Amino acid sequence: MASPVADAVARSNGVLPSFDAESCDPRTLTVLLALLIHEEPRVVVEAGSYQGHFAVQAGGILQAYNLSGRVWTADPADHGVADRIVAAGLAGRVFYHHTTFEELLTLCPAPIDFAFLDATERGGAAAMRLTHLTTVLPLMRPGGLICVDDTKGDWCGVDVIRRAGIPLGGARGLTVIRV
Ligand SMILES: C[S@@+](CC[C@H](N)C(=O)[O-])C[C@H]1O[C@@H](n2cnc3c(N)ncnc32)[C@H](O)[C@@H]1O
Repeated sequence: MASPVADAVARSNGVLPSFDAESCDPRTLTVLLALLIHEEPRVVVEAGSYQGHFAVQAGGILQAYNLSGRVWTADPADHGVADRIVAAGLAGRVFYHHTTFEELLTLCPAPIDFAFLDATERGGAAAMRLTHLTTVLPLMRPGGLICVDDTKGDWCGVDVIRRAGIPLGGARGLTVIRV
C-alpha cells in the first residue's frame, strides 16, 4: 500500500542534504512527523531551521495528508532553506525567516498549535531552549504541543523542561509538552 509518509519523505529528501551532527536526528524527526499527522496543527513554528530537515519534511507531510497546517521557521544563520522550500514545491506552505525565533513570533499567526524548539547558540549551548519555551508559551493554543529537542543533555534548564512534559529517551532526547 502506498504510504503518504514515505512518499513525502522521499520527495523532501531529494532537496535536503544528508543529515549531520547539527541536523535533527532522523529518529526524532520521525516522531515529530507522526505527531503532526496525529495532531493536525494549523500553525507550526520551529526555532532553528538549520538546513531545513524538520521544516521541509513537516511541510511535505502536512501537504501529503492534505492538512491545512503551515510551518513558520527561523534561523539567524542562512543555510539555504528558502531555496529548498521552493525546490520541494512547498512555497505557501513553509515560511522561512532569516531571523531569530523571538522575532519570528512577532510575525507568525497565533495561536500556535505546534512548536518545535531546536535552536542552539553558536558554540553548541542548548540553554536558549528554556528561554524559547518561556517566550512561546503565552502564544500557544491551550492543548497545543511543544516539542523540545536535545533534552537528554545536561544543559542549564533541561531538568525543568523534562519535568514539564514527557521526556523520550531515544536519539538526543525529545521532550513533548502538552500545553
Ligand atoms: C540543531 S540546529 C537546528 C536543526 C534543525 N531544526 C533541523 O531540523 O535539522 C540549531 C540552529 O539554531 C540556530 N539558532 C541559533 N540561535 C537562534 C535563535 N535565536 N532563533 C532561531 N534559531 C537560532 C542556529 O543557527 C542553528 O542553525
